[in-house]
Amino acid sequence: MDLKKLYIDYFKKLGHVQIPSAPIVPENDPSVLFNTAGMQPLVPYLLGKDHPCGKRLCDYQKCLRLTDLDEVGDSTHHTFFEMLGNWSLGDYFKDESIKYSFDFLTKVLNIPIEKLAITVFKGTDKIPKDEISKKRWLSLGIKEEKIQETESDNFWIAGDSGPCGPDTEIFYFRSNDEVPETYDLEDDRWVEIWNNVFMEYYKDENGQITELPQKNVDTGMGVERTTAILEGVNDNYLSSIWKDVIELIEKISNLPYKGNEKSMRIIADHIRTSVFIACDYSMIKPSNTDQGYVLRRLIRRMIRHAKKLGIDITSNFDTQIAELIIKKYENYYSEIKENKQTAIEVLQNEKVKFSKTLEKGLKEFDKIIANINENVINKDLAFKLYDTYGFPIELTEELAKEKNINVDIEGFKEKFKHHQELSRQGSKEKFKGGLSSSGEQETKYHTATHLLNAALKEVLGKDTHQKGSNITNERMRFDFNSDHKLTEEEKEKIESLVNKWIQEDLKVSIKQMTKEEAIKIGAEHMFIERYPDVVTVYYIGDISKEICMGPHVKSTKELGRFKIIKEEASSSGIRRIKAILE
Ligand code: ALA
Repeated sequence: MDLKKLYIDYFKKLGHVQIPSAPIVPENDPSVLFNTAGMQPLVPYLLGKDHPCGKRLCDYQKCLRLTDLDEVGDSTHHTFFEMLGNWSLGDYFKDESIKYSFDFLTKVLNIPIEKLAITVFKGTDKIPKDEISKKRWLSLGIKEEKIQETESDNFWIAGDSGPCGPDTEIFYFRSNDEVPETYDLEDDRWVEIWNNVFMEYYKDENGQITELPQKNVDTGMGVERTTAILEGVNDNYLSSIWKDVIELIEKISNLPYKGNEKSMRIIADHIRTSVFIACDYSMIKPSNTDQGYVLRRLIRRMIRHAKKLGIDITSNFDTQIAELIIKKYENYYSEIKENKQTAIEVLQNEKVKFSKTLEKGLKEFDKIIANINENVINKDLAFKLYDTYGFPIELTEELAKEKNINVDIEGFKEKFKHHQELSRQGSKEKFKGGLSSSGEQETKYHTATHLLNAALKEVLGKDTHQKGSNITNERMRFDFNSDHKLTEEEKEKIESLVNKWIQEDLKVSIKQMTKEEAIKIGAEHMFIERYPDVVTVYYIGDISKEICMGPHVKSTKELGRFKIIKEEASSSGIRRIKAILE
C-alpha cells in the first residue's frame, strides 16, 4: 500500500495542487538548522502572499526533528520522517478540513470510526475555545466521550514565533485490546496520527498574539506511524518501510532483531537520516558546526552501535544499508537518485575519520585510567572523550566498566546540558542576526547564485549546472558539476563576468508559466520532476533565466562586488565555490 499516493490522489481530487517537498536544509533561512514541518517554507503564504499554485496545496515532505534524538531506539521515534500535508491558504477552514480528514481516514483508509478519538482546543483567557471543531466532529458521528479538550496540546506553532493557531488532533487506538468507550488522554494505546492546525493568529517575538489577515489550514500526518498502524504492527520498524532494512542488519550482524532492537533501530534510522542530509541540495558534509555537526553525530552514533553489535566497521556494511534505503526513496526524491554516490562517500569518509579518532581516543582513555586517582572518570575527562574524540558517553561507560571504573555520568550530563544551552544560545543569536538584516543580505546572495550559475556556463560550458547551494548572510556556497579543478584563469573569468553583469545593473523580473513552457525556453532548474505544474521563472536581464521561488533583488547593482574566496572539491565530479559580496 502506498500511503503517499493515496493521500496525494485524494487531495488532488479535492482541488489541491501537489507541491514538491522543500529541502530539509532550509534555503535562505539560516535561523533553523532543518525543516521540522512542511509549513515552514510556506510561512510567507500563510501570512498572505499569493502562492503561484493557488490556495489549496498538498505534498509529502521531508522533516527532521532533533528533539527526539534521544528517543530514537524505541519503536516509534525517528530523526528523519516523512509528513503528509494539505493546506488551505485563506480558502476552506475548520468544517471542510475536518470533513476531508475524516473521509480520508474512514472511507479511503477504511479505519473504523470507533478506533478514532479527538482532541480540541479548550481555550485560554486570550483565545476562545474551539467550539466549531468539536461540533463538526460530533456531526460526523464521533461520540462525545471520544472528544477531549486540552489547552497546551491543542495550540500549534513552529518554534517561538510565527503563524499559529488552535489545532484538533486525531488519535488511533493502536492495540488489540477492546476499544474503550471513553477516550482517556493518559492512555497511551491512543496514538496521534493527524494534526489539523487552524492558523489564524500570529505570535510575535514578544509573545503578542494578533489575528492574521486570512484563516489558514495546515495539517500534518506522519507517514511512518500511519503506515505501521494500517499494517497492524505496534513497532514502526516492523512495517514495510523498515522491515527489510532491519532484516539486512540482522544478516550483516548475524544477530536477531529481538534483544538487539535499540542498536538496530538506531543504525537504520541514522543511516536513513544521514542519506537525506548528505543528498540534500545544500550538500552538507560532516563537520563541527550546525548541520554538519548533526550529520557527524548521527554517523558516529551509528558506527558505535554497529560496533556494539559486533559488526566489522571496516566492512562496507554502511554502504549496503544505505543502498537499500536509497532504493526505497529515489523514485520519490530525485536528489536521492542524483546524489546517492555522494551520500555513500560521506558515510565512508566519516567512518574512516571516526576510526582514526576512535584509535586516538582509546589511547587517551588508557592514559586517563593510568593516571586516575579515585576509581572514577570525572565529568571533564568524560566530556573530553566525547568532545575531542567523538566518544559517546555510553562508549566511555562501557570501556570503564571493563576496568571496574565508574564514570561521573550525572556530572557529564550537566556539563553536556550546559554545552547544549550554549550552542542553543548561539543559534538564537544567529536567528537575531538573520532578522536584523531582514534577509536583505541573503536575498543578494540568492541573486548572485543565479549570476554565478550563468557565468559558469559561459566559462566552463553549457553543460555546467547547479548541484546545490547554501546561503547565510555572510557568504554563499555553490556546488556544480565539473570534471576538473578550476584554473586561476577560469576563476578570474567567472569573477569578472559576474562583476560585469552587476555593473550593467541588469533588471530582475519574473514570469509564471507551466513547467513544460519553462523547460522549452531553457530555464535553469534542478530536479525538474519535483516542481509543481506552474512555476515562477526569474530573469536577470537576458543573461539568466531560472525556475526559482525567490526572493531576489530588483536589479544587479544592489549586489556590490562579487569575490570568489575558495574553489574546492565537494564530491566526485562536483566542485564547490565559496564566494562573498563586498
Ligand atoms: N505543522 C503541523 C505539525 O507539524 C501540522 O504538526
